[in-house]
Amino acid sequence: MAGVEGRVVAVTGAGGGLGRAYALVVAAAGAKVVVNDLGGARDGSGAGHAAADAVVAEIRASGGEAVASYDSVAQEAGGAAIVATALDAFGRVDGVVANAGILRDAAFHKMTGDDWAAVQEVHLDGAFHVVRAAWPHLREQRHGRVVVAASTSGIYGNFGQANYGAAKGGLIGLVRTLAIEGRKYGVLANAIAPMAATRMTADIAPPEVLEKLSPAHVAPVVGHLLADECTDSGGVFVAGGGQVHQVAQFMTKGVTFADVPSIEQVGDRWAEITDLSTAVPGVNPVG
Ligand code: NAI
Repeated sequence: MAGVEGRVVAVTGAGGGLGRAYALVVAAAGAKVVVNDLGGARDGSGAGHAAADAVVAEIRASGGEAVASYDSVAQEAGGAAIVATALDAFGRVDGVVANAGILRDAAFHKMTGDDWAAVQEVHLDGAFHVVRAAWPHLREQRHGRVVVAASTSGIYGNFGQANYGAAKGGLIGLVRTLAIEGRKYGVLANAIAPMAATRMTADIAPPEVLEKLSPAHVAPVVGHLLADECTDSGGVFVAGGGQVHQVAQFMTKGVTFADVPSIEQVGDRWAEITDLSTAVPGVNPVG
């Protein structure tokens, strides 16, 4: 097979914004798509069928194949039901895009436990639930593609997004481990950190910036990460407005202490420890 043709891809949160663009681009390229969306508001409240149904209708009207799922990724049963929808409708699952998301922004001193938990439940637990349900199928068929929606907030941090940044950073740790565990089974896992004008960003950036950030720019990058030709795994890719970058870790040359140093001896060598001019791609010393 080539590209995503004939593959079965489940996209969570595909009733609007970026998820819709991912679903449309892979359907146009010949994938069969599960369009999952709970259909609630930006803060996670409410639910409905209209969002997922509209994207399924759009795909079918263009000659593509799609089915709707209205399950919430926030529950284990929801993740299982999304994968079951793919198996029931199309007999297999090849790709999962864990894209569903909500926002509960607040400066950290005002962030409540509820704001924290709601965001972890949809982004981090939500990705776990759907990917965990698909994983045995991907392993057994020795082919699979996982894409999770990370964010520059998870890489660099962002004011008011301690909950969201923690979840998004967690997703990067998730795909790095899935990349290690999946490689010998032909299962690749990567993270996309998108930048796009959607309801999520409607009041975050000015209109003149947002008009250059169609979700359509991000969708082919996700399409590549789902394609048979993709060989990368464990990568983090920032994409938006026509730009596509990989973000990677580097480590300084650092220092080696022969004996346990004092606090002062560590301080004395701090400039060397933090000298980025010596940096090389980071490797896991216990990997
Ligand atoms: P969006 O709000 O348009 O789409 C998110 C979708 O997820 C919505 O359709 C919503 O109904 C669905 N959803 C929410 N909770 C759900 C649940 N429990 N189960 C199933 N579906 C659920 O937002 P957008 O911008 O399209 O975001 C998509 C992903 O990209 C999110 O994970 C977001 O955090 C991430 N992202 C977006 C950026 C942007 O610039 N738009 C920047 C960085 C990350």
